Amino acid sequence: MVVMGIRIAPAGVTDFHEVLTDHSRYWGERDLRSLHLLALVQEFGSTCLVARAEDGIRGYIFGFVTPDGIGYVHLIATRDDARGTGLGRCLYRAFAEAAERHGARKLKAITSVENTGSIAFHRSLGFDTEIVDDYNGPGRAMAVFHRDLPLNVTRP
Ligand SMILES: CC(C)(COP(=O)(O)OP(=O)(O)OC[C@H]1O[C@@H](n2cnc3c(N)ncnc32)[C@H](O)[C@@H]1OP(=O)(O)O)[C@@H](O)C(=O)NCCC(=O)NCCS
Repeated sequence: MVVMGIRIAPAGVTDFHEVLTDHSRYWGERDLRSLHLLALVQEFGSTCLVARAEDGIRGYIFGFVTPDGIGYVHLIATRDDARGTGLGRCLYRAFAEAAERHGARKLKAITSVENTGSIAFHRSLGFDTEIVDDYNGPGRAMAVFHRDLPLNVTRP
């Protein structure tokens, strides 16, 4: 998929290392490097996507389809200079199409309850948000997002 000079395509091993090298441009102060698993790129390549432009990787979405038909998004981030341009939405749309090809009927993602930006982003994509107590263990709540497929987001 090519939109506005940005090509969304399956991530390769080189892409994986590139986003880790520039980690803070995607995640700021938070260190989420340990959640970046090469196994996802190697084994679920068609649902791990990068958005590449002339100046490098503007954003990425890594996920997989569970055996019970859920397209689970493990990580999504857009580069600090690419936010608010609709790229996150485009990445979700590309992921949703890939997940549906692999039999997914729903989408799911999680984020920390403090990540108000992510919660607002997912709401605007039509996800329902549920705060699940103990999701990450005793006393560790997470925001859990759900929505049905298809993901009808027409805006670029
Ligand atoms: C969350 C993130 C991926 C959104 O990407 P983006 O490219 O800026 O999103 P888009 O431009 O496609 O925005 C799509 C919609 O979400 C809304 N949105 C995105 N970020 C938002 C924010 N921080 N606060 C409020 N709304 C937001 C936009 O206003 C837009 O809504 P609209 O179309 O109804 O106007 C990006 O901010 C990011 O990478 N954050 C750091 C990493 C992170 O926290 N990832 C999520 C972890 S699960």
